Amino acid sequence: MKTLPLLFRMLAVAAGISCLSRPIIAADLPAPREDRTTWFKEARFGMFIHWGVYSVPAGFYHDKPVGGIGEWIMNHGKIPMADYQAFAKEFNPVQYDPVLWVKLAKAAGMKYIVITTKHHDGFAMFETKASPWNIVQATPYGKDVIRPLAEACRREGIKLGFYYSQAQDWNNGGSAAGGKWDPAQKHDMADYIDNIAVPQIREILGNYGADTPAILWWDTPIDMTKTLAGKIDAVVKELKPDVITNNRLGGGYNGDTETPEQHIPPVGFPGRMFEVCMTMNNTWGFKKDDHNWKSVRQIVQNLSDIASKGGNFLLNVGPTSEGLIPPESVERLQAVGAWMNINGEAIHATEASPFPRRLPWGRVTRKTATHGAITLYLHVWDWPQNGKLLLPTLQEKPVSARLLKGGFAVTAEQTPAGLVVSLPGAAPDPDVSVIALQFAGPLTITQQASVSPNADGLIFLGATDADTYGGLGGNITVTGSGADASLTHWRDAKWRVEYRIKTPAAKTWLVSAEVRAPKPAKLILKAGKTEVPADIGATGETENWTTAPLGSIALPAGDTVLELRPAKAGWSEIDVRHVTLTPAPAAK
Ligand code: GLC
Repeated sequence: MKTLPLLFRMLAVAAGISCLSRPIIAADLPAPREDRTTWFKEARFGMFIHWGVYSVPAGFYHDKPVGGIGEWIMNHGKIPMADYQAFAKEFNPVQYDPVLWVKLAKAAGMKYIVITTKHHDGFAMFETKASPWNIVQATPYGKDVIRPLAEACRREGIKLGFYYSQAQDWNNGGSAAGGKWDPAQKHDMADYIDNIAVPQIREILGNYGADTPAILWWDTPIDMTKTLAGKIDAVVKELKPDVITNNRLGGGYNGDTETPEQHIPPVGFPGRMFEVCMTMNNTWGFKKDDHNWKSVRQIVQNLSDIASKGGNFLLNVGPTSEGLIPPESVERLQAVGAWMNINGEAIHATEASPFPRRLPWGRVTRKTATHGAITLYLHVWDWPQNGKLLLPTLQEKPVSARLLKGGFAVTAEQTPAGLVVSLPGAAPDPDVSVIALQFAGPLTITQQASVSPNADGLIFLGATDADTYGGLGGNITVTGSGADASLTHWRDAKWRVEYRIKTPAAKTWLVSAEVRAPKPAKLILKAGKTEVPADIGATGETENWTTAPLGSIALPAGDTVLELRPAKAGWSEIDVRHVTLTPAPAAK
């Protein structure tokens, strides 16, 4: 029975009958083939919750601020075990309302939650027989907080994942990053794995229902060996073989997902799922003096950026010791929810952009219906002043084009450069406006992933052509739009950029860059094994761009990656706009 409509559709498609003059409705789509990762790929957006005893000191020890992320306070403050354990006596989250938390996540458009069941401080937020250092026995609250959260998630149709610090454990004798600061911490790692970690992992896998956890989120595999990780992996395979695991177990176990932390990778991970985790301010665990909140625009653009690369966004909240999610986080989640209410279909169950290069005005996601129709979602970050958006080299014309906000139709026209979409005067959404273009069938996009010489023989690299590689502290940012876009916030000497270039012949090129350099900065130009040092003189505190020569470099014919990286010494933050490669005059 079920095959009839499908067969009809296949025949209709074969006979060239278009069934696409009406919008695609859910009933058109046969259920996609489920595998254990389907829900995760479709979810795209989740809530990370870092909650534990560290929310009591909240960034202060003996009234002095302790630097760094809040949940690391015991380590960064070198707090002895006894002192730290005393904080548990003040951990009494009487305001904890798991239903409220789950509803907040759901209203933000999130499909799952991952909560810290035990962080590096070793404190179990669940009932455990393996260690008395747990919420039931060591706090006045005296109750497992994971169980009611699991129940609330189940009721609201939200998946629940568990973060569990399997290696570092500063109170139960697991490995301790950077050396142990209290002799009481001394312990054998293998004994800790056998008698704390493995039994607790059995508890969190076995005690919260067949559907929970949906994710196991390991972290910082310091001192994990193949043997130790193998013991944990065996328990997972035995109890929850379908759980999604991340890549942080250690011992050579890759898990299902890559986990870029605090930065968005330039492109996705071909053949691998990935999940970017990020804080809303600068800390995971609550710190009372951290007020460095990201804007709603930044959060929405991060979500859009990550989805355009085919990944998930796990956005953190750090509740207080009373059990409250900070109001600044609540406000932001509500605003993101208002955006998702209108634009969620451009995020959920989408795939990465079909364009091999980033587009100067924003990002693209894509959905393919089983009968071949394709929707492209244009996430417009910078509303074009001339009202035109170019989809380079795209040849097909959409059967419909509309703004998700308000549903207004927009027009699209085929040009030699690609499809040009004409937009109304003002952006309907100040952060990201989305346009849905529906196409009858496969798309023809011939855009090259690499930048080739232009008609004048120059290779012109704009800021959106740069693949930026950041780290735990963030990433280089693209600021501004179109030809004015520039790379800014290059705060860390470990961060770098890469440009993908294709040249018809091997040649030596003179490289120059438009820069702003408050202080002199030393860079390295790199292609393959060739490294060329480049000194940039100070351009002062000026708003003006200065063209700085970076030196000359030989590139082979074909595809190359040109890298700009800070030199080992002498780096100072610079902004970069265009990088231009000019053929070097032939040697006489
Ligand atoms: C880490 C940190 C940490 C945080 C986390 C989130 O590497 O150790 O405190 O839980 O990753 O990704």
